[in-house]
Amino acid sequence: MATKWWQNDVVYQVYPRSFQDSNHDGIGDIPGIISRLDYIKSLGVTMIWISPINKSPMVDMGYDIADYQAIDPQFGTLDDFKTLLAEAKKRDIKIIMDLVVNHTSDQHEWFQDALANPDSPYRDFYIFKKTNNGEAPNNWRGIFGGSTWEPVPGEDGTYYFHTFAKQQPDLNWENPKLRRAIYDMINWWLELGVAGFRVDAITHIKKDLDWASIPADDVDGLASVVKKGRNRPGVGEFLTELKQETFDKYDAVTVGEAYGLADSELEKFVGKDGYFSMVFDFSYMNIEVKNGDEWYRGRADWTPVDLRNAFFNAQEATAAAHGSLANVLENHDQPRVLSKLVTDPQYQTPQAAKALGTMYYFLPGVPFIYQGQEIGMKNFERKSIDEFNDVSSINNYETALQDGYSSEDALLAVNQKSRDNARTPMQWDDSECGGFSDATPWLAMGTDREGINVAAEENDSQSVLNYYQALGELHHDAEWEPVIVNGDFQPMRSLPETVVGYQRRLGQKVLTVLVNLSPKSARFSLVQTGGVLEQVGEVQLTKQRVKMSAYSAIVLGNKPEEG
Ligand code: NOJ
Repeated sequence: MATKWWQNDVVYQVYPRSFQDSNHDGIGDIPGIISRLDYIKSLGVTMIWISPINKSPMVDMGYDIADYQAIDPQFGTLDDFKTLLAEAKKRDIKIIMDLVVNHTSDQHEWFQDALANPDSPYRDFYIFKKTNNGEAPNNWRGIFGGSTWEPVPGEDGTYYFHTFAKQQPDLNWENPKLRRAIYDMINWWLELGVAGFRVDAITHIKKDLDWASIPADDVDGLASVVKKGRNRPGVGEFLTELKQETFDKYDAVTVGEAYGLADSELEKFVGKDGYFSMVFDFSYMNIEVKNGDEWYRGRADWTPVDLRNAFFNAQEATAAAHGSLANVLENHDQPRVLSKLVTDPQYQTPQAAKALGTMYYFLPGVPFIYQGQEIGMKNFERKSIDEFNDVSSINNYETALQDGYSSEDALLAVNQKSRDNARTPMQWDDSECGGFSDATPWLAMGTDREGINVAAEENDSQSVLNYYQALGELHHDAEWEPVIVNGDFQPMRSLPETVVGYQRRLGQKVLTVLVNLSPKSARFSLVQTGGVLEQVGEVQLTKQRVKMSAYSAIVLGNKPEEG
């Protein structure tokens, strides 16, 4: 039996700008989400995470919040949001929001007041520092590139701190008044009926208070902010208070975005009294690049063994900490998984999309599906940097040029890794605006919507969409759900190098998941019994041997009476 109310959930991430437009402006909105709830439900989804819908100037597409308690008019109104909560509830779907509290927008009234007046009480809500030597306070480099310090206009030698874009000033968590204001805001949303939060960039809230420069790690003379402003000693005290003052009071579910967590910290983060219900498993999120933040620096060589070892280790470390992971193939910050993990374009097929879905869906923890993943959407190649919207793509492109890369190489890197790959509008049908809108979409539609769209896939029993619906059914199947939710995890480390496999065991029941992540077939011995619960592509099974064709997958279910 599940011990926590959210452990049986299947979560769907909506990127609201690109999901469904209802008011003809080419931008997705809340009424659009409401109109698609039955579709979401058909995937076996029981919880929706909505990327930020708060008022925002959209420099970082909503992750720059200007008013925590207002809905951005582009997305609708607070009444629309209340309707969404009610309509979702009718369908037994919970809603979680994105909680962005490491920083606000520079347009937030707190920051505007702080900028306008050095004596403003809000100055201490942010991080301002003065230097006398004409230089920034230190050499830390932000996640989106460049210094983390921005000069304050009209105040010589004064700077403010930002981990991400300069329009996203960091909040000063050392200030109890700021923390109280944040807790009150969180509780306001919980009172409204949200079930919890995906918690953005949360391990950045504590910085090293020496604010000291450190040895440069690149030719720009800067050093990554993650060394001095992420997972730093003392972050736990903030996270404990945050949890006690907010989430605990409402039994809310929380999913931490916590890049770079050491295994030794998992107990504190997701153990019995952990700061969060779960954290995302990002163990292989950036496997295809040499450097996750400065990804223009090139591709990494990786193998399916690296990939399986990454998540085997993450799962084992999390189990040892008695915690849970949120399992993801995609999100709004990553390219499409089919383009990322299947390197040869001729194999970027619906079959491979299904095989990848099989790989992560049955892991211990909660599966998160990112909109469009369930129809096998792919990256979309753009011909010029002007076609990109994403602030981090544009920054990476510019840094690459400054670093001596040619514009062709820089564009190639951006096409491969840009966050805009996942942000193209949802492909509901094959019409010009994909059924997403009847006006020009805010970001160009993908070019492959003819074959890859919901309407076509609903009518094709072999489609990726139908497969995801079947995965949802199996997840909630009375017989198998307890195994999927509570079964032990046993990685299969001695399979051929291209095969990712694991077993889940509960009592006498065994679920075996095998995925051949390769254009080559694989053969191996496996003493198996039990029936085929799901199959993708060609898999030949005898009592002792398995032969798997390229990008095939199989899920076997073994019950005691079957021996
Ligand atoms: C992580 C979010 O997922 C990303 O989209 C955003 O740019 C940064 N945090 C900053 O909020």
